[in-house]
Amino acid sequence: ETLGFVKIVEVGPRDGLQNEKTLLDAEVKVELINRLSDSGLGVIEAASFVSPKWVPQMASSAQVYTNIKKKHNINYPVLVPNEKGLEAAINCGVKEIAVFAAASESFSNKNLNCSISKSFENFSLVTMKALKLGITVRGYVSCVLGCPYEGYVDPSVVADVCLKLQDLGCYEISLGDTIGVGTPEKSRHLIRTVSKKVPITNLAVHFHDTYGQAIANIYAALMEGIRTVDSSVAGLGGCPYAKGASGNVATEDVVYLLNGLGFQSGVDLVEIAKTGSWISKILSKPYSSKAGQATISK
Ligand code: HMG
Ligand code: MG
Repeated sequence: ETLGFVKIVEVGPRDGLQNEKTLLDAEVKVELINRLSDSGLGVIEAASFVSPKWVPQMASSAQVYTNIKKKHNINYPVLVPNEKGLEAAINCGVKEIAVFAAASESFSNKNLNCSISKSFENFSLVTMKALKLGITVRGYVSCVLGCPYEGYVDPSVVADVCLKLQDLGCYEISLGDTIGVGTPEKSRHLIRTVSKKVPITNLAVHFHDTYGQAIANIYAALMEGIRTVDSSVAGLGGCPYAKGASGNVATEDVVYLLNGLGFQSGVDLVEIAKTGSWISKILSKPYSSKAGQATISK
């Protein structure tokens, strides 16, 4: 018996790598994405067309996007903050982009160098242009359960930002616990508040594991009816504009959770664990996914 399908949005090649100080060769990123493509994932966030002065690791995004082996049944979205990023994405033939807003003014300023309302002026232009070209648009909201600069974030403010992204035409909105401070009951409360404005089928959750709460939060989110979960192979990641933000929840751990609960994700735990172990070695890091580690040492 199955409880149904949960879509995993793999963000390792983007959210995972953007914070790595050592610049990886484009070929390594391409290999990472190709390996992920072979593990059964349906969505792999491949790159980020942001300013290379702001995020040097993403400077090779066009080269990476162009060279990955794209499978017809996999989406490879890329982050785009402004029209310049959209131009670059269009030139590469990108089919899906993601715009990224914040629920806190200070974070918006640190991450995008502008206020929330100014960021929406950019997103509005970007989204309109993209949709006209048949490019789909996903939306992110950062700091949904707390901000590194402002602390408490009001769930109703998050809900308003989500609604604005939906009104622009984002087909899915990902709730980002950027600094990983959320706990399960707070996550449930947030999802209940936001889903009064945006249908729960259009929401995704994006947890960072800073305080080790990500899997518990995902369980809570699933129980609320969330069916789209962002995660990062080997738990890579962190945000350059959120000090102390550790990695995203590991895809391997999410797959193990879903398998255990009786949800389907289509992702092969052994394959993803091999990739997680491989990329951790390349980054000279201990392999931090417990489920992945246990899976490959069996
Ligand atoms: P700015 O400095 O205000 O922009 O940055 P600007 O328009 O003044 O441009 C500055 C320079 O950047 C110029 O170059 C532009 O051409 C160039 P110069 O003339 O000095 O040589 N530039 C670009 N280059 C390439 N691609 C572009 C682009 N735009 C401008 N798209 C800007 C504003 C938005 C560009 C900057 O703040 C930026 O790139 N921010 C991105 C930061 C980022 O990537 N953060 C991480 C992603 S968000 C995240 O991780 C959270 C998430 O995972 C969810 C969660 O966990 O919460 C999504
Ligand atoms: Mg993130």
